[in-house]
Amino acid sequence: TETPADAPKRVLLAAPRGYCAGVDRAVVAVEKALETYGAPVYVRKEIVHNKHVVETLRERGAVFVNDTDEVPEGARLVFSAHGVSPAVRDAAAARHLATIDATCPLVTKVHKEAVRFAADDYDILLIGHTGHEEVEGTAGEAPEHVQVVNSPDEVDKVVVRDPAKVVWISQTTLSVDETMETVRRLRERFPSLQDPPSDDICYATQNRQVAVKKLAPDADVVIVVGSANSSNSVRLVEVALQAGAGAAYRVDRAAEIEDAWLDRATTVGVTSGASVPEILVQDVIARLGTHGFGQVEEVRTATEELMFSLPRELRAGLKAAG
Ligand code: F3S
Repeated sequence: TETPADAPKRVLLAAPRGYCAGVDRAVVAVEKALETYGAPVYVRKEIVHNKHVVETLRERGAVFVNDTDEVPEGARLVFSAHGVSPAVRDAAAARHLATIDATCPLVTKVHKEAVRFAADDYDILLIGHTGHEEVEGTAGEAPEHVQVVNSPDEVDKVVVRDPAKVVWISQTTLSVDETMETVRRLRERFPSLQDPPSDDICYATQNRQVAVKKLAPDADVVIVVGSANSSNSVRLVEVALQAGAGAAYRVDRAAEIEDAWLDRATTVGVTSGASVPEILVQDVIARLGTHGFGQVEEVRTATEELMFSLPRELRAGLKAAG
C-alpha cells in the first residue's frame, strides 16, 4: 500500500513480546543465588541467550562456564533455562557441585516426552537446530532413540527402524509454520507418525510469532530486539518477513539500528525475543522517536499471565537462609 509522504511516522509495538515465564524465572534464580550465597555463582552456558542479561549478571558476580569441568569442586552451579542432559547432571554430581536447575519447566516437559517414548522404544524425531543447547539436552535424554531434524529439507535423510513406531517432538523456540511443514513432510514418509502429547513449541514462542505476524503486513521495517544466538528472536525476523514486512532486522540494542533502514519507512514494527529485557525495547522506541517516529501503537494479540515458581533447590536455600 502507498503511504502519503506526509503520513505520520508511527511505531507498531508487538504484544506479547520480551520476557517469558521461563526466562524470568532463570534470571531471578541467578540473582537470588547471588544474594543468598554471594559471588561467585557459576552458571553453565548463558543463563538465557541475551548479551545484556549475561553481561549484567556477570558484573554482579555470576561466572559463566562452558561446562562442569570448569567449576571448582563443591561450588554452586546453575543450569541454564535451556536444560541439560543426564550426562551433564552426572558430571556435576561427580564434582559434588551444589546445582540449581533453572531449566524452563516447558523444556523439562519435552525431556520427559523423550524419556517416555524412548522407554517404549520409539524412533524419536526431534525437530530443532543441531548444536543448540536445548537440543543437546533433550537429545541427551535418549541418545540411542533420538535423531535431530533441522528443517523440512532434512526429512528425506531420516532413517528409522520401524516406520510404524515413530514420534516427533521439537525444540520449544521454533517457527510454528516451518515446523508444521517439516511434520507434514515427515508424515508423507511415515503415515503413522505420532504427534507429541501437547505442543512442544511453547506458548511464549507462539504468542510472539502471532503478534509479529499481525503487525508485519503494515510495517515497512520490523526491528526485532534479541541476540544472534537466541533461536526465538531469529525466528521472529523470519516470521516477520514471511508475513509481509518490507524488511526485518535483528538488533541487540538500539545503537545497532542503521539510519538507512528508517529513511523511507513510515511504519516501523518493533518486537523482542523471549530473553530480552523491556529496557532494551524502550531504548529502541526512544531511538525511533529521535527519528520522527513519535506515535507508538501497541498491537496486542494475547495476554500472558503464566509464572513459574523458583527452582526447588533455591527455594530450599532461601528458606534455610531465612
Ligand atoms: Fe520456556 Fe518458552 Fe521461555 S520454553 S524459557 S517459556 S521461550
